[in-house]
Amino acid sequence: MKELIDKLEALQNLSREEFAQVLLCDNEYLFERARIKAVEIYGKNIYLRGLIEFTNYCKNNCFYCGIRAGNKKIERYRLTREQILECCKNGYALGFRTFVLQGGEDPHFTDEILCNIIKEIKKSYPDCAITLSIGERGYESYELLRKAGADRYLLRHETANNEHYRTLHPEKMSPDNRKNCLRNLKKLGYQTGCGFMVGSPYQTTEHIIDDLMFIKELKPHMVGIGPFIPHSGTPYKNEKSGNMRSTLNIIAILRLIQPNLLIPATTALGTIDEQGRELGILAGANVVMPNLSPVDARKKYMLYDNKICTGEEAAECAFCMHNRVKKIGYKIAVTRGDCHV
Ligand code: SAM
Ligand code: FES
Repeated sequence: MKELIDKLEALQNLSREEFAQVLLCDNEYLFERARIKAVEIYGKNIYLRGLIEFTNYCKNNCFYCGIRAGNKKIERYRLTREQILECCKNGYALGFRTFVLQGGEDPHFTDEILCNIIKEIKKSYPDCAITLSIGERGYESYELLRKAGADRYLLRHETANNEHYRTLHPEKMSPDNRKNCLRNLKKLGYQTGCGFMVGSPYQTTEHIIDDLMFIKELKPHMVGIGPFIPHSGTPYKNEKSGNMRSTLNIIAILRLIQPNLLIPATTALGTIDEQGRELGILAGANVVMPNLSPVDARKKYMLYDNKICTGEEAAECAFCMHNRVKKIGYKIAVTRGDCHV
């Protein structure tokens, strides 16, 4: 296995058969090589992103997601412009230099409303980056948001395999459109992030290899991956969660196939294991995304059951992340944390 991992690092690529072996392996050396690679490029810096979950209204009905339109049991909310700006103010004081505005696909947030919010944030915090994570929109919409000042966009492709995509989404959602959105975002100069859930229902090793191939072709700036975790209000409530080792193996492989990637140690990883985020960093991740949303909103933005950090204040999460990162010999960098190209 050691030779294969060295080969992966040297070529930044492998055959499908070889990828399958590395994906399924249980070998500390994989994490060690990925960790060394991350430190070579980003040092022992971990970048902070302040997540502002500003709406849990969503017009989509993804079978796995807790805020899907079909889940009638959750209380819906939208943050006002003032509340969003208040989150940024708190975050800035806590050392955040990137704000991630994430939400369901909520038609209330038109281009005009969003552009005003983006401009306002940029005016108050010109040294900060704005990341959007608000799903699929048209080219013109992405263009307006970019011109208003958005710097980055996160849109997980969810799965690169079309048949697998169909098992996770209703008929009217399209895998081609999602991939096309990602290409448009790159074209418009966004630092772009794709990604997928590990262990989502019906996912196979072959699907994950398709994801790796898609990432090699897209060459994104960021890749967000975390375990699938079932939500009791969804059709996939009885499916099992994705596991830790597969997620760590994929983080490490991503670091070795595209060494400059920004890779978060996700909240979902911290949810399936108390030490998940730390282990993610030790397998090559270099970003953490603590929550800046108001505490009463957090409990309503439940993408999956038992999500962590839903009772804590922003300051508590920021403090907690500093400590966690320090304990494993890394430090939180108070910078925008752009992708090193
Ligand atoms: N609406 C935007 C979009 O579609 O990109 C952003 C919000 S969406 C809820 C953010 C991500 O949460 C999705 O891309 C998905 O991968 C992840 N997610 C949703 N349900 C999940 C679950 N049950 N377990 C783990 N991750 C989940
Ligand atoms: Fe939220 Fe630790 S990061 S409590």
